[in-house]
Amino acid sequence: MADSRAFYATTPIYYVNAKPHLGHAYTTIIGDALCRWHRLLGDDVHFLTGTDEHGLKIQQAADAAGMAPQAFADSIAPLFADAWKRLNISNDDFIRTTESRHRLGVQKLLQACYDNGDIELDTYRGLYCVACEAYFTEDDLVEGNCPIHKKPVEQVQEENYFFRLSRYGDRLLQWYADHPGAIVPDYRMNEVIGFIKQGLLDFSISRTSFSWGIPLPWDDKHVTYVWFDALANYITAVGYGTDDDRFNRHWPVDFHMIGKDIIRFHCVYWPAMLMSAGLEPPKGWAVGGWLLVGGEKMSKTTGNVVNPLDLIDDIGVDGFRYYVLAETPYGADGDFTYEGLIGRYNSDLANNLGNLLSRVATVVGKKCDGIGPRPRPDSPLAVAAAEALAETTARWHEVQPSRALEATWQLIRATNAHLETNEPWKAEPGPDLDAVMGDALEALRIVAILASPAVPDTAQAVWERIGMTGAVADQRLPRDAQWGGYPGGVTVVKGDPLFPRRQL
Ligand code: MSP
Repeated sequence: MADSRAFYATTPIYYVNAKPHLGHAYTTIIGDALCRWHRLLGDDVHFLTGTDEHGLKIQQAADAAGMAPQAFADSIAPLFADAWKRLNISNDDFIRTTESRHRLGVQKLLQACYDNGDIELDTYRGLYCVACEAYFTEDDLVEGNCPIHKKPVEQVQEENYFFRLSRYGDRLLQWYADHPGAIVPDYRMNEVIGFIKQGLLDFSISRTSFSWGIPLPWDDKHVTYVWFDALANYITAVGYGTDDDRFNRHWPVDFHMIGKDIIRFHCVYWPAMLMSAGLEPPKGWAVGGWLLVGGEKMSKTTGNVVNPLDLIDDIGVDGFRYYVLAETPYGADGDFTYEGLIGRYNSDLANNLGNLLSRVATVVGKKCDGIGPRPRPDSPLAVAAAEALAETTARWHEVQPSRALEATWQLIRATNAHLETNEPWKAEPGPDLDAVMGDALEALRIVAILASPAVPDTAQAVWERIGMTGAVADQRLPRDAQWGGYPGGVTVVKGDPLFPRRQL
């Protein structure tokens, strides 16, 4: 695809100390739908996800399971890959941080920052809780004790390598001033700028207290701090350290899709690390809020973990994908409820989309001999279709899937209203009825294309039932969503309801 634009997007890589849950699925589905949208635009898309497998947290989880860390990671990583397959995630690659391509790239990145003088040995002095294996500041302590274990902390000092983040404050501020739209939604950008302006502290990038990690190339007593290791996946997966040509084709990334909890690592540490290594910072970050359950972030301790695979058994893959994409404006926190899931499904999928398809197919079956008529060039629905295309495109561009779907669903509503006004079920067969039905079929064709990033299987089913051939995903925007593409003269199939109504 010589003249197509490259589009590269990533999800966070997920820790293998937990099984895939709703929160992981949330970020991954948003990234997937965005990438599918860009494929419709004709971009040469590369979508990356993967697993984060090093560090103390994983070593401890492996110890608790009585397994070696690598064997433990090997047992969990496929659960993520399988969950993404079942959720119809179209990732082009899946990186694991224990792969050799990653290790080679991390070592190259470390060496580049070290050679540039930004990594230096220093003594870390801090308050350490052995039970947590973590450092605390005076402010973190509760009555002088570890806030978690309520036990005294120890004054410890350890030799660590530090990344000189403090040197990068001005450069980062300048870079963000030159790239004002880089973080969406924009209120997240203000958070990042505020953080940088407070003054940046150097951070420790190595550990000697455990060994489950990538050794520093110049001092193998130290392993790389897990965040330095993890962030690098975005470049190592596309060839940094192993295939320069490939790397240059993909980097800089268009969007890192991340949760708000990891914004500092991604929007402050990461661009500084890249600058230090002489690489371009990312072009963009799309920062999502949390999907809460009962008002809280999912975690093993609160016991509110929702398994997305249980939900898709219940409501179907597209029912679940649609809910995740449509329910919450991207950026804000959302509250997952089962009632909300069923409510969305019944209103938007069963009543609006499902009902429209079944009405159209029924009338065409009864009154047009099952053959779809052609649309009118001057149909009143043509305006609604053009608006839906323009609005949906603009909202995907802002990484606002809920608003994009709202814009697409406007066309479904307009088409249902068009049928209610014309009442084709009461009309006699003939040119007037054909015109109404041809218009409705054309609207459904355009809806199938616009909705396909969110609900790929449903869109394909709609496409086939209205008599279109080939794959809806192979259509190209804006060309194929122009009014008038429905050929007419093709067989329309009613079939079973796409979305049978659900009871709570
Ligand atoms: N391994 C790190 C990320 C490294 S990226 C270089 C990590 N992993 S994680 O598995 O704990 O979570 C990763 C991401 O999952 C979060 O940043 C967030 O994007 C997403 N979510 C986890 N729980 C979530 C919710 N409850 N709601 C929405 N997203 C959440 O952090």
